[in-house]
Amino acid sequence: MQLSSSRSLAEMKPVLADPGATGPDPVYQVFKELGVDSWVNQTVIAPGRYGQEFPKTFGHYHGVETPEKYHVVSGEGVLQLQKKHLELGFWTPEKMDEVLLIKAGANDELVITPEYGHSWSNVGTAPLVLYDDWTTPHSPADYEAITKLHGLAYYLTEENGAIKLMANKNYEDLPEPVWMTAEEFQRYLRK
Ligand SMILES: [Fe+2]
Repeated sequence: MQLSSSRSLAEMKPVLADPGATGPDPVYQVFKELGVDSWVNQTVIAPGRYGQEFPKTFGHYHGVETPEKYHVVSGEGVLQLQKKHLELGFWTPEKMDEVLLIKAGANDELVITPEYGHSWSNVGTAPLVLYDDWTTPHSPADYEAITKLHGLAYYLTEENGAIKLMANKNYEDLPEPVWMTAEEFQRYLRK
């Protein structure tokens, strides 16, 4: 296994609820050449907080139509999925058709389709370890909208031991987020 990339706290500042907050650094690391079945990448997200916010991945969209599969190895995570909104055939990045929050733990698996921007948050007390099968290199365009809007639709924060969602004010008319399990999401996609 080899280190593929590492996201420092400084690099994550544009997408944090509080860009001045301190906490674990690096926020997460991605490893390659895992030698585990057909999995391509392993992401390890540190436990902790940045102010009230849970550590997370930067978040991105995919520029290609390939689905992406995740497997939760260990830890407790929430995958935020935000569905692209089209107006007259044009993508409007500050509006969302829907926002889904998938709570997932060890051995949960799910496949996501290309219309969803996505980011994982580590809501547990241990590192969140994930496998995925993504082989296409990311382009700067995959991160552009999320950088400009300072994160995904909702910031996942902690209040009195529970997850509290803070709406990202850079988005317009945000839909109420819907919580699902990994299994429920797969059934939902098949509908
Ligand atoms: Fe992805």
